[in-house]
Amino acid sequence: MNKLDIEEIVRKEIVDTVLKTQEFIVAGNWKMNKTKQEVKSFLKDIKDYDFGSKNTVIVTPPSPYLYLFEEELRYSSVLYGVQNVFPKESGAYTGEVSIDMAKDFGCKYAIVGHSERRSLFGECNEFASKKVRILLQNNITPILCIGENLEQRKQGDYKQFLVTQIVEGLARIGEEDIKKVIIAYEPIWAIGTGETASPDQVEELHVFLRSFLVERYGEHIGKDVPLLYGGSVKPANVKQLALAQSVSGFLIGGASLDAQSFIKINDILNGN
Ligand code: PGA
Repeated sequence: MNKLDIEEIVRKEIVDTVLKTQEFIVAGNWKMNKTKQEVKSFLKDIKDYDFGSKNTVIVTPPSPYLYLFEEELRYSSVLYGVQNVFPKESGAYTGEVSIDMAKDFGCKYAIVGHSERRSLFGECNEFASKKVRILLQNNITPILCIGENLEQRKQGDYKQFLVTQIVEGLARIGEEDIKKVIIAYEPIWAIGTGETASPDQVEELHVFLRSFLVERYGEHIGKDVPLLYGGSVKPANVKQLALAQSVSGFLIGGASLDAQSFIKINDILNGN
């Protein structure tokens, strides 16, 4: 056996070990998709599937379908949440979904500050920070999304922008609560475009964000904040992205809509 073959075998073993031992968060963001029938069929496919006990598997459907999740996933290891929430328990907020409603349906997670909410509905860091606070007060884990657009990326000043999104998004909670928040880095130019950030780009950014979190909030907090990557993640690229340093999991849009591709992503992240 030549040196290259041996190196390849060793590399494969390292990859297998990482995938079989590292605990990943696998979160699906359905956005505004699916009919009731399609939701039922997805739930039928995943309900009894063995996702393993290593990864945390989450789906965030459109809110009108939460009752189906509550009914079907009661005894399942798959968790679910809302894509957005209004930062009040109840009240005169036409069209919004409250914290109480999310709790009522058994949601354990809520996406906050997704770039589509920021760009289409004008949501800002301050509003995100209110949601983060009230969610934690109600034992729902916020998935705080951050991400730069293509112009910011090209101009090169995007790292400061991302840092500001984190600091302002976390501004209303105590330092000890920071590690209860999941942060999802989703470069806007890679969302729904099919254009994934390369594993090197993801690693560079995640290492930067991890160092920032450690520096700003101390090692005992910063090293434990889960950092997800999102943007055109699919079965074909998830393995390489999972090997990037400081990636704790993925927020998956398009590829989470199909039960088989969602299952496949988790299988890969289990080393299968
Ligand atoms: P995508 O979406 O996987 O379809 O790019 C990711 C997201 O917006 O959360």
